[in-house]
Amino acid sequence: MKTILTGIRTNSVLTLGNYLGALLPMVRLANKHSKDSHVNIFVPDLHSIISEVDGDLKANIVRTIKYYLAAGLELNENVHFYRQSYVPAHSELCWILNCVATMGETSRMIQYKEKSKGQESCNVGIFDYPILMAADILLYSAEFVPVGEDQFQHIEMARNLAMRFNNRFGETFVVPARTSDQVKFMEVENAIRIRDLLSPEKKMSKSTAAENSKIMLDDEPAKAAKKIMSATTDSLGKVKFDMFNQPGISNLLQIEALVTDTPLQDVISTWAGETRYGDLKKKVAESVSEMLTVFQGRLAEISDEQVYELLEAGEKYANEVAKAKLFDAQKAFKLR
Ligand code: TRP
Repeated sequence: MKTILTGIRTNSVLTLGNYLGALLPMVRLANKHSKDSHVNIFVPDLHSIISEVDGDLKANIVRTIKYYLAAGLELNENVHFYRQSYVPAHSELCWILNCVATMGETSRMIQYKEKSKGQESCNVGIFDYPILMAADILLYSAEFVPVGEDQFQHIEMARNLAMRFNNRFGETFVVPARTSDQVKFMEVENAIRIRDLLSPEKKMSKSTAAENSKIMLDDEPAKAAKKIMSATTDSLGKVKFDMFNQPGISNLLQIEALVTDTPLQDVISTWAGETRYGDLKKKVAESVSEMLTVFQGRLAEISDEQVYELLEAGEKYANEVAKAKLFDAQKAFKLR
């Protein structure tokens, strides 16, 4: 049986953009494939500590697992939730891969360059990030690894490390699919990128200071509705889906489609030619507030105990699979 694997960092509460653009598509994929594939959804808590964590990391992890469940993830015996730090093989394989990876290729990672830029003393974890990520993937022989575009370079690095290892030591790791095939698997030709409500030419981001620029998943529904009402639009006076010339309006249409689970094309034709932006905003505000009410209600129904039970079962499975693969890698270096 094949394995699909994904992880999401839990450094803070997610935005509506993270939810619609990353979490929900992942839940759809998981539900589609979990009948005949293993679906590993893990929390890369060791990746979290390369930078500041808002709040308590343990609580953030529990909240993130609840997000998946509240978003409609269907559980069955093929779906496995686990925490990276509870499966020591991740760190151990990371060390072995450190001895296969080169300084040159690791230094070329865009995320490393961006995160270390202007920092007087960048921690080594930021540099080692993609190698730990390769370990996360290779331990489970995962072919498909749904992630956002910003992580594609890391997937390519995992592929390179697997191929180099296999060439040097014989077939040990399954090489993950190349990113072009990952994109096909994810069925998203155009990645969904929800925009900042005040500056719609930018992506919605939790790190933007202005409160009204973003909707957080724990926002009061009425407050979220107000933020939509105050979203920046344009002065063209005609509703049209055109991310380049009308990013604010296009963003609202996109949000409406996703929160109401309607094909974007249908939403676009419903509103085509409308001249009163206020009407569109009112509708989107209602839809967002309704979605948040339902989502937050579901979230409140999931207990911490339920999450811990899932994690414990998942970690038992993950440790078995990961240990066996780690052993192969240890043998390659004559550690075993
Ligand atoms: N780097 C990913 C992100 O920031 C999270 C992650 C860590 C991950 N390890 C992974 C994703 C392995 C997929 C597979 O989004």
